Amino acid sequence: MSPAPTAQPWNRKHLLDLQSLGAEDLTLILDTARSFKAINERAIKRVPPLRGKTVINLFVEPSTRTRISFELAAMRLSADVINFSAEASSLKKGETLRDTVRNLESLNADVIILRHSASGAPHYLARFARAHIINAGDGAHEHPTQGLLDAFTIREHKGRIAGLNVTILGDILFSRVARSNIWALLKLGANVTLCGPPTLVPKVFEQMGCRVTWNLEEALRDADVVNLLRIQHERQRVTMFPSLGEYTALFGLNQARMKWVKPDALIMHPGPINRGVEIEGHIADGPQSVILEQVTNGLAVRMAVLFLVTGGRADEAG
Ligand code: NCD
Repeated sequence: MSPAPTAQPWNRKHLLDLQSLGAEDLTLILDTARSFKAINERAIKRVPPLRGKTVINLFVEPSTRTRISFELAAMRLSADVINFSAEASSLKKGETLRDTVRNLESLNADVIILRHSASGAPHYLARFARAHIINAGDGAHEHPTQGLLDAFTIREHKGRIAGLNVTILGDILFSRVARSNIWALLKLGANVTLCGPPTLVPKVFEQMGCRVTWNLEEALRDADVVNLLRIQHERQRVTMFPSLGEYTALFGLNQARMKWVKPDALIMHPGPINRGVEIEGHIADGPQSVILEQVTNGLAVRMAVLFLVTGGRADEAG
C-alpha cells in the first residue's frame, strides 16, 4: 500500500470539532482513512496499532451507526473496547459526567469517545481528562467524524472537493452533521448551499460562508452533491413548521424533484433515514445514493482518527 502523505504530522491530543482543524489536518485524516479502507477490504482486517490500549464508548445519547462504527474501528485496531450505556449506568443515579470520566480514567482508559446531548460536552472533558477525547456528536454543535466520512465519500467519488457544489437540505439549525459538514467542505474549497424551511435555515448561516436559499429547485439544480438531513425533533423545543406532511410537500426529495438533480450528483444522508419524509425510499435505494457507502467509509475514517489521536504516524497506517 502506498504510504499516506505526511506534509504535516498530526499533533492534536483530541478530536473535538472540525471548526478548529485546517485543510492540511483534514486532508491528513482523509488520506490516512484511505489506507484503512484498504485494510477493511482484506480477508484479515485486524491490525495492531492500538494493542494494549483501552477505548471506551461513552454514549449518553442514542446511536446505531456511530457507536457500532467506533466499536468496530477500535477492535480492528486491536484495542480493548468497552461500551458504556448511559441507561444502565450511574449517570442515572445522579453521578456527574466529570465523576464518571474520572472513574473511567482510574481504569486507565486511553481513549474516551463521547456522544452527549449538550453542545460542548467533549470540550469540557478535554479540559481535565488524561485520556484522548473524541467527539461522537455533541448536541446540535458538531459531529466531526460524520463530517469527515462525508468528505471522504465525496472525494472518493468526485476525485476532489475543491470547486464542487454541495447542497445540504433539511434541518440545518439543529443539525450537528450540518455544522461539521460545512466546516470541512468550506475549508477544503467546496461551495456550500443550505436549503430548507426558513425557520430551520436562517440567513445567519451566510456568515459561515454558505449560500442560503429557501428555493428547492435553485438549491438542487447545480448541485454535485445533495446531502439530506433528518428533522431533529428531539432538539426542537418548539414546533418549527406546521407539520411533517407540509415539510415533505415543500422540501422532501421525490421523483418529480429528481429532475432538477444532475444525473451524476451524489445523494447522501447520515442516517437514520425517515423514508417518505425527507427522502422517498426508492431514491435512498437508487443508483445515485451513496448512503450505505457512507457507513462503510465511516469505519475507515474512525480507524484513522483513533490511530492519529493516539500518536500513529500517517505514513505507518496499514
Ligand atoms: C446523526 C446524528 O446522530 O447526529 N446520525 C449519525 O450519527 N449518523 C444524524 C441524525 O441523527 O439525524
